[in-house]
Amino acid sequence: MPLDHDQLNIERDPETHDAEAIQPGATEADVAAVRAALKTFTAPSGPLLDIGCGTGRHLRALAASGHAVVGLDCDQRMLDAAEQAGVPTDCRLLAADASDFSCDEHFAAALLLNRSLVCFHSHRMATGLFSTVAKHLVPGGLFLIDNCCTELWNEVANGNYSNGLSGDGCQQLFFLPGENRFVWRRDDAVDPENWTPSPSDRIYRLWSLGEVALAAAGAGLALCCLSSDSPLIVLRRQE
Ligand SMILES: C[S@@+](CC[C@H](N)C(=O)[O-])C[C@H]1O[C@@H](n2cnc3c(N)ncnc32)[C@H](O)[C@@H]1O
Repeated sequence: MPLDHDQLNIERDPETHDAEAIQPGATEADVAAVRAALKTFTAPSGPLLDIGCGTGRHLRALAASGHAVVGLDCDQRMLDAAEQAGVPTDCRLLAADASDFSCDEHFAAALLLNRSLVCFHSHRMATGLFSTVAKHLVPGGLFLIDNCCTELWNEVANGNYSNGLSGDGCQQLFFLPGENRFVWRRDDAVDPENWTPSPSDRIYRLWSLGEVALAAAGAGLALCCLSSDSPLIVLRRQE
């Protein structure tokens, strides 16, 4: 049964996401890392695809550095907030599930930042993400993913992610049996009597670097940088 859990991992709301998930200065640091990787790995020129763009902070910062960016997200509330914050000239927003979409445009690079990889938890979403991105890159185009694998497995090693309730009872976490996927419930969603996933639960995949390598190989993407001490994972569509 757990293997069938395929619902999208949706944020509580744009305001809560931005308040909780964005550290001061992180947008600038992310954009600097992306621009450095585009240069180091000689990305072709062309538009960028910001996958899981949320309220559009990377899109706006990249546009300010001269990039044309398409921001893609499956949550219309996030896109509405991005629209409200302003979509720069040469940029646009696209409502779609990144693991299963099609558009006419091809991209010099696709970006997946701020631990958004964990949202692609099911087999369909995981394999669909990599193959769909590969199809939408120009030859030589890059897929840049923030290295949440190293960060999150460090949390596991430090004992911070395990089955149970937090001391204040406001958080509940449990792994799906036999899997590196877990349910994370918060506040009203916490239910100490229930430790099986329900359709309203958010499910996260604790991707390892090795899993990324497998998914990349399945999609025909080459590994340019897959190192535990690098902030970005860099994959390339073959020329
Ligand atoms: C952790 S947030 C990151 C948002 C933004 N990149 C940022 O750093 O502020 C993850 C985003 O991915 C989006 N998302 C989750 N699953 C998705 C999917 N299958 N297709 C497209 N977007 C998805 C969510 O709606 C959310 O906006």
